[in-house]
Amino acid sequence: MTEQIKSRERVALHGEVFTNEREVNAMLDLVKAESERIDSRFLEPACGNGSFVIEILNRKLLVAERKYRKSPTEYEKYSIVAVSSVYGVDILEDNAKECRQRLYDFWNAKYTAACKKECREEVRDAAEYIINHNILCGDALTMLCDDGDPIVFAQWDLIHGSKIKRKDYRLDSLMKADRDQPDLFENQFSYDEESMAWIPAPIREYPLMNYWEVQYAD
Ligand SMILES: C[S@@+](CC[C@H](N)C(=O)[O-])C[C@H]1O[C@@H](n2cnc3c(N)ncnc32)[C@H](O)[C@@H]1O
Repeated sequence: MTEQIKSRERVALHGEVFTNEREVNAMLDLVKAESERIDSRFLEPACGNGSFVIEILNRKLLVAERKYRKSPTEYEKYSIVAVSSVYGVDILEDNAKECRQRLYDFWNAKYTAACKKECREEVRDAAEYIINHNILCGDALTMLCDDGDPIVFAQWDLIHGSKIKRKDYRLDSLMKADRDQPDLFENQFSYDEESMAWIPAPIREYPLMNYWEVQYAD
């Protein structure tokens, strides 16, 4: 359990008061089924040092542990699916950094306990890489990073056994409410014939990669 307040100044400037564990759990229980689905995606737009994203990961990994108790390889794969489905943004870099570290340490402790001698360093590197792309420093209101670039999130989809398909999207196109006017966001939407709707278009697509090799994409 971490302290709820770092300083009065930060409370005044950024409304920074971390939520305690009991409240985090009570709120997540409102979406219990989703929080326990290994591949359901969650974005915490003011993630602080990670109270919510860590508990969401915990719930997903408990399900993975139950389901894949007898197969470390399957647990490994689904622990990557779980960690790749939680996203966060915080306006303060130290919060984003602490959140990434806590999320990684949490994932790694569980991975080490479940897979023991079968743990692989490149899987740890893959998890760290995914977390670095999923927990970003930026302003969730303007949807810009601290360097002024748009916030971009990677979508990681497990397909074909152990392969991951990565697509990068701008957060502003994902959040845009008025899809009737996609021209306002040039090149960020494409028309989907099946659903007859404009859907956000990725700004970059990557070739299929093994889940333990996503960190080599760049
Ligand atoms: C009330 S705290 C909640 C932190 C975390 N969600 C929790 O429940 O423990 C609000 C957080 O939002 C961050 N924040 C404030 N304005 C923000 C903005 N425009 N975009 C992203 N994060 C912001 C603060 O730095 C702070 O960490």
